[in-house]
Amino acid sequence: MRANLKVLNSSTFRMSAVYLVVFALSVGGILWYVYWNTAVLLERQTDETIRTEVTSLGEQYRQGGLARLLDTVRRRSAQESSRGIYYFSNQVGRRMSGNLDGLPADALGKSGWIEFPYEVRGTDDRRTHRARAYYTRLSGGFTLLVGRDVEELRQFAQLIRNTLYYALALALGAGLGGGILMSRNFLKRIDTISDTSRSIRAGDMSERIPLRGTNDEIDRLSQNLNSMLDQIERLMAGMREVSDNVAHDLKTPLTRLRARVEAALRENSKPAFKAALTETLEEADELLRIFNALLSIARAEAGQTRDQFAPVDVTEIVNEIGELYEPLVEDAGGALEIDAVDGLQVSGDRQLLAQAIANLIDNALKYAKPPEGSDKKLQIGLSATTIQGNTVISITDNGPGIPARDLNRVTERFVRLDTSRSEPGSGLGLSLVQGVAQLHEGELSLINRNPGLTAKLILPALA
Ligand SMILES: Nc1ncnc2c1ncn2[C@@H]1O[C@H](COP(=O)(O)OP(=O)(O)OP(=O)(O)O)[C@@H](O)[C@H]1O
Ligand SMILES: [Mg+2]
Repeated sequence: MRANLKVLNSSTFRMSAVYLVVFALSVGGILWYVYWNTAVLLERQTDETIRTEVTSLGEQYRQGGLARLLDTVRRRSAQESSRGIYYFSNQVGRRMSGNLDGLPADALGKSGWIEFPYEVRGTDDRRTHRARAYYTRLSGGFTLLVGRDVEELRQFAQLIRNTLYYALALALGAGLGGGILMSRNFLKRIDTISDTSRSIRAGDMSERIPLRGTNDEIDRLSQNLNSMLDQIERLMAGMREVSDNVAHDLKTPLTRLRARVEAALRENSKPAFKAALTETLEEADELLRIFNALLSIARAEAGQTRDQFAPVDVTEIVNEIGELYEPLVEDAGGALEIDAVDGLQVSGDRQLLAQAIANLIDNALKYAKPPEGSDKKLQIGLSATTIQGNTVISITDNGPGIPARDLNRVTERFVRLDTSRSEPGSGLGLSLVQGVAQLHEGELSLINRNPGLTAKLILPALA
């Protein structure tokens, strides 16, 4: 019962009900038009024939007198095929001619139209038919009635009327049934979506709306909802990862910090306090740096700043950062080669893009440095160009590169390779670059050149 009510209450059903009414009205209209054009017009034609006949009989009476009229009426009455009904009586009401037994009871006034039942004598039976007639009193007290058998006409009209009712009933029934069926089908699909969202709310984040594979509008809606759920799940997993990372990777420095303060207190001397405070300050700075980096990554990954995107001149940033790092690279005994095509533009966040490029050069500087005493010279290439509609910023070095098995891992938060432990860092640099690339709907690609590493920041160019 409740399920039925739900179907009747659904918007699909209401919509089909409106269509049903429109449909029934038009079917009714068409059939009514057919009825009118056949039955009603035929009846009018009959009336017209009767009227003409009355006029012509009147004319004969005037011209040929009673004898001629009587003769004509007799002749016409005898014609079976004409289906004509005639009656002619004198001033005392006695029938003088015609095929009707007597004047119908309602023919009272001076003249007029009447309808009445009359008996038809067949070869072996008697039937009652309906007749329609016009009667008029002629001068001299005579009464003339001319009519037609309209039984067939009436039956025909009845047939058309019945067709009209049946067709309407059929249209209404089929429409109603179709509406209920359609609404029920539609409701069932909406219910699956509701069920899915309910179980997701209950905590099962992996649940998805089943698709029919018909690619209709509900399938498309479900697909969109599913990909939205995918994204939410991904973001939630990311958040969980961040909080795990934070808990795990910040615990060590904080524990170290605490141990140092404790040791200084225990030693209780001025130089010890001073040393502990200095180191604590450094450690606090490092912690702040990590926090800021984590926040930047989280912000880039959430895509919050996307609505503040503006056209950014990549050529300009690359040149600026290149000039900034050139002295540092030279200090390390290396060379930085800058090669940026003019006028490269992307839509994005200038500061984040600059930070990403800086992180990549910083890595090259830190990890591609030749070991002490080697005669190899550090070579870093910084270039920007357009490839297939993308703006590509590449940072190439001639260092040891990253082992193939670690290429995917190094962009995760806090991942540092064992070989790099001697350099300062917290393993967040590449995570931010990756986050910035994603924020700009681009990607970070790391390629081993054996030896050396090329990091490519591929961004969709501004059209
Ligand atoms: N150009 C490179 N050559 C060789 N190894 C690299 C290079 N760039 C990155 N790596 C490896 O990838 C790891 C992750 O780099 P990432 O920039 O994310 O962190 P980090 O440099 O260690 O710390 P941070 O950038 O936060 O100071 C590095 O520790 C290093 O092992
Ligand atoms: Mg780094």
